[in-house]
Amino acid sequence: MPHLFSPYTLKGVTLRNRIAMSPMTMYNSVDGRMDDYHVMYLGARAAGGFGLVFPEQVAITADGRTTTSCAGIWDDSQIESHSRVTAMIKRMGGVPAIQLGHTGRKGSEIPPHIQTNAQGTWKALPPDHPDGWLCVAPSAIPYGGDHTFEVHALTLEEIKALHRSYADAARRAAEAGYQWVQLHFAHGYLASSFFSPLANHRTDEYGGSLRNRARFLLDAMDAVREVWPEDLPLTMRLGADDMHPDGIALDESIEAIGWMKEHGLDLADVSLGVNTDDMVGEAPWGIPGLFVERAARVGREIGIPVSCSWNLGNPAVADSAIREGKIDIAMLGRPALTNPHWPLYAARELGHEDPFSMLPADWGWWLRHLVGDEDSIGLPPARRAGDSAH
Ligand SMILES: Cc1cc2nc3c(=O)[nH]c(=O)nc-3n(C[C@H](O)[C@H](O)[C@H](O)COP(=O)(O)O)c2cc1C
Repeated sequence: MPHLFSPYTLKGVTLRNRIAMSPMTMYNSVDGRMDDYHVMYLGARAAGGFGLVFPEQVAITADGRTTTSCAGIWDDSQIESHSRVTAMIKRMGGVPAIQLGHTGRKGSEIPPHIQTNAQGTWKALPPDHPDGWLCVAPSAIPYGGDHTFEVHALTLEEIKALHRSYADAARRAAEAGYQWVQLHFAHGYLASSFFSPLANHRTDEYGGSLRNRARFLLDAMDAVREVWPEDLPLTMRLGADDMHPDGIALDESIEAIGWMKEHGLDLADVSLGVNTDDMVGEAPWGIPGLFVERAARVGREIGIPVSCSWNLGNPAVADSAIREGKIDIAMLGRPALTNPHWPLYAARELGHEDPFSMLPADWGWWLRHLVGDEDSIGLPPARRAGDSAH
């Protein structure tokens, strides 16, 4: 029976375990490039045992970033900076993955830790600000909340050009050494906003029916499939539920994921729409394994490998979701920030027979062989036979 630490093979790629570091925007790039910061931070997570390591949403065009400090891969000159990251992740035993995306009407922001407004949320910058730009969208409807500035409704020509940008970005990603691609179709960014009736009011072939609203996503997949190596996984993260009566519902997402499978999708990561701040009632943020049941339904009904994030940081929750066959991979966001050695921590918590096997071989050797107090190695005391499960 597979568990959190079982290897996982998809296409020609084998992960050493089912633990992935979920993409997280880091606001540490200059001109979209990766640098020592990313080599350090992502290499540390690979050294800590994460099987699959994503940097952040990487922009397919300059105006597809969240802020001017975000990463991109819209130009060949950026490839080498990504290669340094992929080389370090591989050296530490991980598989380097890339999330390709375009922020659409949620771009042109200032990094949240630099300036927040009175509500404690971050602000969009106006198009005429030196670090801002005119955001693009399916329809000329601003996101709302902090994003009230005018947005530009994409023309059919511009949509075509964006699909070429997806393909160019994927070609560069393969050249840079990434072995797994995830298209970002979630969280209210451009593709997600095409998919959602909350943002997409178009009347051409990219709007209206579910099939039309899925067309932008399917065209992006087709464009990437053309250039992305056949033996490497092509995956996507879908905004599968807007949690709003007029937004995307899971049933529609399941239908669309079925179409994506026909277009060559290898794995679906099931996440939120976030096409509005106005979600129904209180979004249930506090529930452990918040998206596990939704992902399990996608897997069951479409017959495709699935993953999800959201509240899987308790090792027992992540492990049981895999043991029960509900998800194939556990994606961890915040736990990867707080604990680069989360896989080691989880292995000790879950009573793995050799937790130090999560770490590089030389560290593992010393940790197994250096004599000392077990409870003084910098981790919570390990569970011992007879302890009750957490
Ligand atoms: C700092 C930060 C940045 C994030 N940036 C991205 C991103 O670039 N792309 C994405 O799909 N999700 C992003 N997310 C969401 C995470 O990938 C993940 O889905 C979310 O944190 C829920 O997982 P968790 O409960 O393990 O934190 C971000 C989350 C955090 C905390």
